[in-house]
Amino acid sequence: MNDKVAKLNIEGETLDLPIVNATYGPHLVEIEALSKHEFFTYDPGFISTASCRSAITYINGEKGILLHRGYPIDQLAAKTDFLTTAYLLLNGELPNSTEQNEFKTIIASHVNPPAIVHDTLQGFAKGAHPMAMLISLMGALAGYFHPIKIRDAAERKHMIEQLIGFMPALVAWSYQHHIGQKTYSPRAGLSYAEQFMYLLFDDKRGNNPILNKAIDRILILHADHEQNASTSTVRLAGSTLANPYACMAAGIAALWGPAHGGANEAVIKMLSEIEDEKNIPKFIARAKDSNDNFRLMGFGHRVYKNYDPRAKVMKQTCDEVLSELGEQHDPLFKIALQLERIALEDDYFIQRKLYPNVDFYSGIILRAIGIPTELFTPIFALARTVGWLAQWGEMCDDNDFKIGRPRQWYTGPKVRDI
Ligand code: SDX
Repeated sequence: MNDKVAKLNIEGETLDLPIVNATYGPHLVEIEALSKHEFFTYDPGFISTASCRSAITYINGEKGILLHRGYPIDQLAAKTDFLTTAYLLLNGELPNSTEQNEFKTIIASHVNPPAIVHDTLQGFAKGAHPMAMLISLMGALAGYFHPIKIRDAAERKHMIEQLIGFMPALVAWSYQHHIGQKTYSPRAGLSYAEQFMYLLFDDKRGNNPILNKAIDRILILHADHEQNASTSTVRLAGSTLANPYACMAAGIAALWGPAHGGANEAVIKMLSEIEDEKNIPKFIARAKDSNDNFRLMGFGHRVYKNYDPRAKVMKQTCDEVLSELGEQHDPLFKIALQLERIALEDDYFIQRKLYPNVDFYSGIILRAIGIPTELFTPIFALARTVGWLAQWGEMCDDNDFKIGRPRQWYTGPKVRDI
């Protein structure tokens, strides 16, 4: 048993706070004892605070390393498909061929969501953002599948597999409702990415193996990422034993923000606004101006202080897709490459260790495939649903499970009479 402690001297008293060792990454000081001594810690944004234990994903921000259950993200992107990575995230090990076939068959059996989904979409006006629809679809599914016995592992497993199966249709139908187009029905015998592309484009683009592979790889790269804002939201909602579909709605809401999952859509808007390489210096200057709240979308990260390993794979995929489509001269891609080169040579970005993140190139690929901008973040949600479900399931099984209830630094008025 580890007996290392951190000694904290507070008002003449020395507290021995246990130090626990992580497999990788910083060791941790357990601070629960502080509350008995009338002290809290203050750490806005959780810069140095672990909210939970997890064995699913590890990020080394300084070295630009991302592992899922110990496997490097570049190997998973090159050697597996999305559902194989999903199985790994959920179960802790890569599936053998029998397990893989069984899992894919189960997921494919849930490809048709209940009719409540189409009914709920009718409540939205044409033009409503698909992320707003996805939040409501999760609410509708929470109403349809309630109550769910959170403590029953078999019921949790069924709910997880069912939602993963529903997601391609939920995302594709939300977009089709957004543009006022009829929806396509799922087909049998397709891979997960093929199913999504057919649901989105029918035959027009659903049968291009290069594009389907690119979508599948984008899903792998977005599947999970430790305790990011949306995953932490799902865990906090889940800690109250809320219906898991309602927890997914909370995660989708958090992911939508442009500082998080909404950045891929914001990157394309930014590159389009730059419009020509000669305008890049003006935008770099704005990003550096502390009086201008403009930020370089797709750059910077709370954890990565090196190149996001997902961005590296995304950049390679970008090259492949644009070449396949004969669009290697896509003006936005050329602006992105130039913008990256200039930023990475600029002291402002170097000093702050700001590098391209997962969102910087993903939008260019999706745009080249013909995916509309409004669908970029919903596709992030399609992939991240697996990570949210894996993290939620891990929390349900954690012996340290307790309702999340942060404390505060109270700065309000002293007690007073009316
Ligand atoms: C995702 O957490 C995850 O894991 C998220 C994610 C996942 O898979 O779940 O990886 C997905 O959300 C990727 C990030 C997508 N967001 C964007 O690309 C939006 C642009 N990026 C920034 O908003 C920002 O970098 C954040 C929000 C991503 C991170 O912000 P932090 O960690 O809170 O950093 P900070 O705001 O404290 O910035 C530190 C400094 C500041 O300058 P100073 O005050 O020190 O002078 O860096 C500057 C910031 O102004 N800075 C930027 C910048 N990002 C940070 N300056 C210009 N452009 C930027 N993009």
